[in-house]
Amino acid sequence: MPWNFQEIEARIKTEVQTVGTPQELEAFRLKYLGKKGLVHAVFASLGQAAGQEKAAIGKGANDLKKLVEELIEAKAGWVKAAEKFEERADISLPGAGQALGHTHLLTQTMQEITLIFERMGFITVETPEIETEFHNFTGLNIPVDHPSRDAFDTFYLDAEDPSAKGRRLLLRSHTSPGQVRIMKEHKPPLAVIVPGRVYRPDAVDASHSFMFHQVEGLLVDEKVSFCELKGLLQEFCRRFFGPKVVMRFRPHFFPFTEPSAEVDIDAGILGIERKKWLEILGCGMVNPRVFEAVGYSKGKYKGLAFGMGVERMAMLKYGINDIRLFYENDVRFLRQF
Ligand code: DAH
Repeated sequence: MPWNFQEIEARIKTEVQTVGTPQELEAFRLKYLGKKGLVHAVFASLGQAAGQEKAAIGKGANDLKKLVEELIEAKAGWVKAAEKFEERADISLPGAGQALGHTHLLTQTMQEITLIFERMGFITVETPEIETEFHNFTGLNIPVDHPSRDAFDTFYLDAEDPSAKGRRLLLRSHTSPGQVRIMKEHKPPLAVIVPGRVYRPDAVDASHSFMFHQVEGLLVDEKVSFCELKGLLQEFCRRFFGPKVVMRFRPHFFPFTEPSAEVDIDAGILGIERKKWLEILGCGMVNPRVFEAVGYSKGKYKGLAFGMGVERMAMLKYGINDIRLFYENDVRFLRQF
């Protein structure tokens, strides 16, 4: 048999893939179907073929012709469309570019805060947004029906707490319940940061939102002092706001820390005129009652804790005057950061 039809077909199928223009398509057609083309040559060879080969060559020639015709037809539509596209499109124009999203300013701020503490040896942990009264209040020395609960006004869910009959689950009103969860699970030494969303039924205005973000910090060991709390937060503020930051510790009350303080920073340094001192966080030494609630041995450990509002930190650092801007998803705002 003078023709290897299998091999010829394979070659044709590969070759047709390189055809891209009308001219190339015509050359391809002539090469196989033209007067001097291959199909013609195969038919011509029938004259010299031996009797039993004739049928095979005849069939091969017909199949080849059919294949090439089909390939040409399929390719013709494609070549035409490509030609039209080139007429319309100026492919020398620069591309339109693809808008690439980026991390939201609040996420950036939260990452910046957690990274500062991670570099000091803290680890970042996330705890649930749906909490029990025990973690959100009781374990933090905020007793049931005690007026201090009012300060942490709370959204209750229409769902019973599976661990406390008759009590409902709630949306955590601060990240401090993370402290209780972590201490219940782990023994000191501990140095953790808990970032996340918190919820309070506040009317929305320029400085309030029913949902916002906090970052909680907790460090527990056998020896921890208020001095260390001050040093830690001072260093944090320098790294976050810059080396010129001026801050003060002002005595305050929180049920879960004793003594407690709030930290203010001098607004003048940040170029904000509104008020001299702006509160940025709450902190203190972990109240022994909290250690008791999580089952630590009496008197064995000391701890420092702090909690800050992420929106507040970002507003001060970047001069943003309305908290609602964070949630409106207006790209003209978001793009600036
Ligand atoms: N949980 C407090 C709040 O939401 C903030 C806070 C104050 C957290 C003192 C602490 C702390 O860990 O020690 O207002």
